[in-house]
Amino acid sequence: MLEKRLVVDSVRHLNARCFVVAFRSGEVAAAARAGQFLMVSVTDAIDPLLRRPMAFCELLGPVTARTGFSILVERTGRGTTLMSRLQPETELEVLAPLGTAFRPPSDAEDQCCLVMGGVGSAPFPLLAGDLIAAGHDVTAFIGGRTADHLLCADDLDRLGARVVLATDDGSAGHHGLVTEPLQHHLDEATGGVTVYSCGPTPMMRAVDDIARARGLPHQVSLEAPMACGIGVCLSCVVPVQEADGGWSYQRICREGPVFDADSLIWEHPDA
Ligand SMILES: Cc1cc2nc3c(=O)[nH]c(=O)nc-3n(C[C@H](O)[C@H](O)[C@H](O)COP(=O)(O)OP(=O)(O)OC[C@H]3O[C@@H](n4cnc5c(N)ncnc54)[C@H](O)[C@@H]3O)c2cc1C
Ligand code: FES
Repeated sequence: MLEKRLVVDSVRHLNARCFVVAFRSGEVAAAARAGQFLMVSVTDAIDPLLRRPMAFCELLGPVTARTGFSILVERTGRGTTLMSRLQPETELEVLAPLGTAFRPPSDAEDQCCLVMGGVGSAPFPLLAGDLIAAGHDVTAFIGGRTADHLLCADDLDRLGARVVLATDDGSAGHHGLVTEPLQHHLDEATGGVTVYSCGPTPMMRAVDDIARARGLPHQVSLEAPMACGIGVCLSCVVPVQEADGGWSYQRICREGPVFDADSLIWEHPDA
């Protein structure tokens, strides 16, 4: 893990809520893996004190000589609103890379379905690039409330993924839930499939039901409010299934954010 003061290279606004921040750091980019995240301060001032967790979205520069990385941010509260006002050349404190990465399919022949909703798209350009470079056929299912909420479609298309869109209001792609075209695709698929998802919890649970019913491996990237990001404060725990039939808590920042979906307990055992 590196603790660095990094320079913002650029800030690109995608719409009224979402923006991409590129940082210069070949060192962090060389260490980062798809699914991992960083804890980043939101201004170069001391307040707010807590850094915010953000997924690595893309690594910049040639594979052999990375020059930096980008994050995709949705403005949701005070910290991300301050980030939306960042200017190039601002320096921010960063802890990275943190957490677990997505794992490649256990079968090199598997095709991969990446299922994402809203800003849950953030880790997928990096993952899609890796999977396509390794020879996997990749289909990205991107869901959102409206066309304006669909993120990373152009990036995933540019990387060589097949892109399937779904919106709640029908303003782009399939009119309905993103899990509907996923189900249709899996019904038609021949050969092995590995599924990856990130987005709202109801979406990931629905993807889990679909993958389990077909016996498909499924990795999910979870979110939780995080204070430290390094395993100390226990603000980010989730219940997971133990091999002996019991359960325990794991920390999303250390044992996650990427988990095998079949290890997760979606309903808290004490609820
Ligand atoms: C592993 C991981 C990766 C993430 N990747 C992205 C990403 O790529 N793009 C993106 O836009 N968002 C991402 N998030 C969510 C993002 O961290 C929160 O939206 C952000 O911290 C909210 O900060 P805020 O100050 O604007 O909101 P506030 O609600 O004002 O935040 C107050 C506090 O709660 C924490 N917090 C609130 N909501 C969340 C949340 N959903 N997850 C984690 N901490 C939260 C903040 O860190 C802060 O300490 C990720 C979260 C995790 C855990
Ligand atoms: S955020 Fe502190 S233990 Fe996970």
